[in-house]
Amino acid sequence: MRARTTVAAALSTVLALSLSACGDNTGEGDDGTVNIGIAMPTKTSERWINDGQDMVKNLKVFGYKSTLKYADDDPKTQVSQVEDMISEGVDALVIASVDGHAFKGVLDKARDAHIPVISYDRLILDTENVDYYASFDNEEVGEQQALFIAERLGLVNGTGKGPFTVELFAGSSDDNNTRFFFKAAMDILKPYIAQGDLIVRSGETDLDEVTTRRWDGVLAEKRMNRILDADYAGKRIDAVLSPYDGMSLGVIRALKKHGYGTAGKPLPLVTGQDAEIPSIKSIKAGEQSQTVYKDTRKLALITSYMVNAVLHDKKPAITDEETYHNGRKVVPAYLLQPVSIDKSNYKSVLVGSGYVDSSDLD
Ligand code: GAL
Repeated sequence: MRARTTVAAALSTVLALSLSACGDNTGEGDDGTVNIGIAMPTKTSERWINDGQDMVKNLKVFGYKSTLKYADDDPKTQVSQVEDMISEGVDALVIASVDGHAFKGVLDKARDAHIPVISYDRLILDTENVDYYASFDNEEVGEQQALFIAERLGLVNGTGKGPFTVELFAGSSDDNNTRFFFKAAMDILKPYIAQGDLIVRSGETDLDEVTTRRWDGVLAEKRMNRILDADYAGKRIDAVLSPYDGMSLGVIRALKKHGYGTAGKPLPLVTGQDAEIPSIKSIKAGEQSQTVYKDTRKLALITSYMVNAVLHDKKPAITDEETYHNGRKVVPAYLLQPVSIDKSNYKSVLVGSGYVDSSDLD
């Protein structure tokens, strides 16, 4: 299990100071409790389980209770969970949406009930009723994935003897992050594709051709199988842009099924995101090539600070007031920095920071 005590300890110390400065307009319930509704998308991925648990832990240090719900990746379920939390009178909402477009009506209800809303990791779209956004620099994520490919193939310094083949995968079309990751990655890869240094044999390069519903690894595996059958008979694939670890492992399963990962037929470069344990193990074993580490402990921490600030009518710390327009307004954001991870630095960065225990990687 991840070592998380350091963050909780640090939070307690800072809180001792910040709580003394707190007002008392927190909308306490009759029994004096302040309850925060946390809506998370799914338990199928390790990261969201950790995000939820970390939020609950941090909010507890602030003295807040939490109601934590997971939506099984179903937008309707998540909307009704949020509706229930509003009816139950939560004091603030933290939402990592399944479908960024699904909240328009329900967040009108939150506004009417004076419940502040924080968009967690994924931006909620099409509504004015979202106060703040806590996430990572999502453009940087896509850049790190694409640069890894361009550098490793020797395209950046011109040492690579191409042309090389690449296939492109993107995340779920209803997740706003998807287009940020993909656009940033393509801004780097497109010039190489245009010059013919990189060839996408499937021809599938537009976002709507490469998205993967709900970031599903099985769907990514199926698409990779189809492309390998249709476009790579007798040809080698050199790289796969994958935006998320769960999909990267699906892609690798398809590649192995097609004989990659054996002597004389090494796996292509495969990127990823989230530094999930199965993927770190895969990187350690020399299969997945890269992932993007986003320290979700920090995300939960700054989100908890945001919650505390809004409950005391204070403006939370913000790092970006221009990038994240949700269709209605620019949502002020706090963006953390992602880190590119490969075989050379997974130990120092991930184990070294206590994000994973080395025993989890055996
Ligand atoms: C995105 C998130 C990624 C990854 C993906 C699949 O919204 O930013 O880190 O977790 O969802 O869950």
